[in-house]
Amino acid sequence: MALSYPKIKTELPGKRAKEIIEKDSQYTSSSYIKEYPLVIGRGEGAMVEDVDGNQFLDFMAGIAVNITGHSHPKVVEAIKKQSEKFLHICGTDFYYASFANLAERLAKRAPIAGEKSVFFNNSGSEAVDTAIKLARHYTRRPFIIAFFGAFHGRTMGAISLTSSKPSQRSFFGPFLPGVYHVPYGYCYRCPYNLEYDSCRIYCAEAIEKTLCKSHMSPEEIAAIFVEPIQGEGGYIVPPIEFHQKLRDFTRRHNILLVVDEIQSGMGRTGKFLAIENFNVEPDVILLAKGLASGLPLGAVISKKKFMSWKAGTHGSTFGGNPLACEAALATLDLIEKGLMMNALNMGSLLMEKLKKLKEQYSLIGDVRGRGLMVGVELIKDRKTREPARQESHEIAMQAFQKGLLLLPCGENVIRFSPSLAISAQEVDMAVEIFSEVLGQYERKRESR
Ligand SMILES: Cc1ncc(COP(=O)(O)O)c(C=O)c1O
Repeated sequence: MALSYPKIKTELPGKRAKEIIEKDSQYTSSSYIKEYPLVIGRGEGAMVEDVDGNQFLDFMAGIAVNITGHSHPKVVEAIKKQSEKFLHICGTDFYYASFANLAERLAKRAPIAGEKSVFFNNSGSEAVDTAIKLARHYTRRPFIIAFFGAFHGRTMGAISLTSSKPSQRSFFGPFLPGVYHVPYGYCYRCPYNLEYDSCRIYCAEAIEKTLCKSHMSPEEIAAIFVEPIQGEGGYIVPPIEFHQKLRDFTRRHNILLVVDEIQSGMGRTGKFLAIENFNVEPDVILLAKGLASGLPLGAVISKKKFMSWKAGTHGSTFGGNPLACEAALATLDLIEKGLMMNALNMGSLLMEKLKKLKEQYSLIGDVRGRGLMVGVELIKDRKTREPARQESHEIAMQAFQKGLLLLPCGENVIRFSPSLAISAQEVDMAVEIFSEVLGQYERKRESR
């Protein structure tokens, strides 16, 4: 049966959407980005209906959050049931079953050997802040290393590690002292102008060969924070040896390797965690975004010995809220019972189709990713690889007009991060619309 959506029946934004946008612009902070004028009325699976009845195919999932699709019945049922029992008691001070059950499920699932502990937050940034505190508290060391292009969030702790766009940091400093950034393993635009693999993955040795020669001894570094696949920075997949070398360096110097799986985790890459694609065992894992299918929840998972801080050292009023914990338990059931496998299968189909588009459209410089975390890097020229910055936003806007929800990332990348429950038909439809948009764009460019 043919898909009944996308279906666009009004101009975009429609009348009701315009009213809401007007009020929003009058009363909300001007720092909100608002990529395009989508005003959601309801969602179901990969379908988003706006307040004027237009239906869209969602391939951005609320920035990679709705991993089970919009309002999955099992997730909704879990939230409804819990909401009739109690909404809050505070997991920092008291007990409830879902808090303990979710900690057990995550601890058992995390690819870290031995006993593990879990701390719950309300968001990704908060989980990053928790891990910064944990790393300093456990190691008693001052320095933290992060990567250029990284996005770890926007609280004062997390933004100190973020290095994704100047606008996110400008005029907010000074930041947390003791944070240093080094280049990431971005082979399409190698920061050292080298070629894989004759480069011998020099980028992964930069900490040891540059920072530790000029700035600090490795014994002063508390932790390295790394996204296994950079998300907001442009869906960048580093070579496998990149993470393996980081692991080797951190092991030699008892530095904590913290993997920020906030965007890449929870089955998105076809494995529970993206770092599992690199055969690396981390020390600390950060989850948020998809963890509770859209309810605010973050989690920090580490070896028990790293999280043996005293009672009262760290806490949260709302972190591990009972509705969010129940939603996360239902989410875990769904990803374990099929969605993770679906992410792998649909991810290869999507990748194969997008790679074919690369042969067709010179605007595409690179197609990369794992599972359903796929990025298409747009360029102005195949030889110079000049980033097509403006184009990525224009293309996302044009896709929206045709009923496909996409979101740019990095300077010039379109990300495909749909729900993990996406079907082959939905993949076909998304690529068809994306291809139409690229085709129109290239024809317009040629006629100029
Ligand atoms: C990898 C990563 N870390 C941290 C964050 C921050 O999460 P939040 O927006 O929930 O604070 C994000 C959000 O995009 C992210 O992608």
